Amino acid sequence: MGEKEQEVEIVRLLKASNGYASGQRLSASLGVSRTAVWKHIEALRKMGYAIEASPSKGYRLLMGDARPFNGVELSTLLAGRSFGSEVHFFESVDSTNARAFELARSGAPEGAVVIAETQTKGKGRIGRKWESPAGTNLYISIILRPPVAPQGAAGLTFALAVAVAEAVSNRGLKPAVKWPNDILTGGRKTAGILLEMDSEPDRVNFVIAGIGVNLNMKKEFFPENIRETATSICEETGSPVDRAAFTADMLSSMERWYGVYLKEGIEPVLDAWKGFFRSTGKPVKVTFLDRVVEGVCRGVDSTGALLLERDGAIERVISGDVEAL
Ligand code: BTN
Repeated sequence: MGEKEQEVEIVRLLKASNGYASGQRLSASLGVSRTAVWKHIEALRKMGYAIEASPSKGYRLLMGDARPFNGVELSTLLAGRSFGSEVHFFESVDSTNARAFELARSGAPEGAVVIAETQTKGKGRIGRKWESPAGTNLYISIILRPPVAPQGAAGLTFALAVAVAEAVSNRGLKPAVKWPNDILTGGRKTAGILLEMDSEPDRVNFVIAGIGVNLNMKKEFFPENIRETATSICEETGSPVDRAAFTADMLSSMERWYGVYLKEGIEPVLDAWKGFFRSTGKPVKVTFLDRVVEGVCRGVDSTGALLLERDGAIERVISGDVEAL
């Protein structure tokens, strides 16, 4: 067991023991000295765990259900899962997508996740920046290795959007999806998804699914240019979100919808996605790389392309930025 695994194991044992766990027991379970256990306890305290030490009884976790947001807690929470099988937690990175890309290149398995407290170069879609301050939101990238051709990976976009929307509705909100995969609450952007792919002509090597969810960010801390168009779950519900618990919840939805997509294809995924899509029949503006057009949204076809009606004709949109008018 490496140092990090030992800390995860100590937290697991402290949580499992209703009360004190003796230093003797911890050291025997881990196969390390009691001094080593004590050093880990010190490290865990620095990570935000309140641990009481009694010379006669041992160690006790004092936090009840309160959870810090760090690699140890996330690993404890995600133990045994496929999505979250490996947790790479960083206090600060340029972009979790960039880190996940490097890890995937060097062979990290499907389900490995990269999570950061803050990103210095958080990436959004279409070359935009993703605001990534510390201490408040979720920035996560998941390594996926779907056994499909590059064209088949489009369905993933929708599977992930459904999973994020589901996790947001589990917090008591009624999210909507904005084609293809923005998540809005009360009409404002709450989460975004950025997929990056490494592929050959006939197969996908891996996909990095990067997800940013505004969880506890207060309105006044959003930069001015997005203050009216973005929001967070806490702003909408008035209750702070436990970031680690939200992460575990969202990953379990993702694992499930990814499974549905691989086994049954895009159809059931799109059916679920349509349950969150509210733009059908409404006027929209679509920004392409080279032009901007307006029309009426007529839903999506069986591949997930957006159907845009203009001057009586239907145009299939497969990439672009869609806004309600
Ligand atoms: C969007 O523009 O809507 C997509 C935003 C995706 C942001 C997330 S945050 C975690 C991951 N790392 C990044 O650099 N971007 C994605």
